[in-house]
Amino acid sequence: MKNIVILISGTGSNMSAIVQQARQEDWEAAFGARVAAVISNRPDAKGLQWANAQGIATAVVDHKQFPSREAFDAALAQQVDAFAPALVVLAGFMRVLTPGFVAHFAGRMVNIHPSLLPAFPGLHTHQRALDAGCKFAGTSVHWVTQELDGGPIIDQAVVPVLAGDDADTLAARVLTQEHILYPRAIRQVLPQLAAVQASAPTETASA
Ligand code: GAR
Repeated sequence: MKNIVILISGTGSNMSAIVQQARQEDWEAAFGARVAAVISNRPDAKGLQWANAQGIATAVVDHKQFPSREAFDAALAQQVDAFAPALVVLAGFMRVLTPGFVAHFAGRMVNIHPSLLPAFPGLHTHQRALDAGCKFAGTSVHWVTQELDGGPIIDQAVVPVLAGDDADTLAARVLTQEHILYPRAIRQVLPQLAAVQASAPTETASA
């Protein structure tokens, strides 16, 4: 089985879009893949309740309980590894990850970023797109590498910027497209992923 582990920090609307698409298209039969767990760094993340109600395993690794980014990432990697992920999906996971964590999941971790990368990596993407006078905005799914929001792009969706848009209206239009894009991008990469055995030895993620 190819386990998908989704990391969230908040609403988790992309996570729920992935879960619903996986169910609708029966990814278990089609790809031998399933969403095995949803993990959050915030105990109050709304998406956790939703995932729980779907019968999906959930876990919290609260970054506030750790003295350093490295210590948090080591604990997070251990929790993610407990679900033997073939694919780690960052879905509104709002923590910058350490090089050790990224290296540990290299080639099996993807992210969604609300801009047309390589434009506007980092935060406040919608306001920056508006300030630049962009006529089109969008969202990108990419492999996670050591460069923030800089890994190879798997797929993108474009949305128009409309007269009168502010960061919120643009974000809402982009989010609607993310819910279509992210499941589609994951479906695209699933065939090339290897299943990970639960007993696989784990290496330290804090190196
Ligand atoms: C999404 O728009 C996602 O692209 C963005 O956070 C939102 C999460 O929404 N991610 C980033 O900004 C990552 N840097 P969701 O919790 O409803 O899926």
